[in-house]
Amino acid sequence: MPDALSALPPAVAALLARASVPPRLLREPAPGAAVLDLAVAAALRAPDHGGLRPARFVFISGAARAALGALMADSLARREPATPAERLDIERAKPLRAPMVVAAGAAIRPDHPKIPVWEQEASTAASIMNFLNAIDALGFGGVWLSSGALRDEMVKRALGFAATDRLLGWIYLGTPAPDRPVARAIETAGIARDWVPPAGP
Ligand SMILES: Cc1cc2nc3c(=O)[nH]c(=O)nc-3n(C[C@H](O)[C@H](O)[C@H](O)COP(=O)(O)O)c2cc1C
Repeated sequence: MPDALSALPPAVAALLARASVPPRLLREPAPGAAVLDLAVAAALRAPDHGGLRPARFVFISGAARAALGALMADSLARREPATPAERLDIERAKPLRAPMVVAAGAAIRPDHPKIPVWEQEASTAASIMNFLNAIDALGFGGVWLSSGALRDEMVKRALGFAATDRLLGWIYLGTPAPDRPVARAIETAGIARDWVPPAGP
C-alpha cells in the first residue's frame, strides 16, 4: 500500500488501494471457504432496498472450470455460428486462466410491488463491489469481467440460476502474482460538484 494511504483509516485505505488483477496474474491458491464467506458477508452489507438480498455467488473451481469453459464455447458457437474453431478453443480455455471463477448474479423479483428491477440490479452490483473489495483487502485478487455468455439463458440455467435471475459478471479470483497491478493515482476533478439552485424570480 502506498505511504500516503497508510495514515488513513484502514477501511478507506483499502478502498483506495484496491486494484483488479487480470486472470493471467491470478495464481493458486484460490480464496478458501472462510475468506469467501467473509466476502459474501461484506457483499450483504450493500444497500438493499426492501431487504431483498438479491445477490447470488456461484463458485466454480477445479474441474468445474473446464465445464464452464465448455458452456462458454457452446454459447459462443450458438450465438455466432461462424466462429472459427481456434476462437472457440480460446473461449473454452477462459475459465482455466484463474483458480476460481465466480458467476455473480441477481435473484430478481420482477413483479415486486415496490422495488423496481433496476434497484435490485444496482444493489447486486454494489454487493459484487463489496465482495471484490473484501477479497482484495484479505490479500487475494480478483477482476470483474463480462462476456456474451452472461446474457445466454442456457448458460444461466446450466449454472442453476432461475429464468428471472440476471447474470451480472464473471469474477475471476486467485492469489495475485508479485507483479500484480497496483491502484492508479485517482483524479477526482470533474466527478463531483455542488448544486446551486437557480435564483428565484
Ligand atoms: C460490469 C463490468 C464488466 C466488466 N467487464 C470487463 C471485461 O469484460 N473485460 C475487461 O477487461 N474489463 C472489464 N471490466 C473492468 C474491470 O473489472 C476493471 O475494473 C478494469 O480492468 C480496471 O481495473 P481497476 O478495477 O483496477 O481500475 C468490467 C467491469 C464491470 C463493472
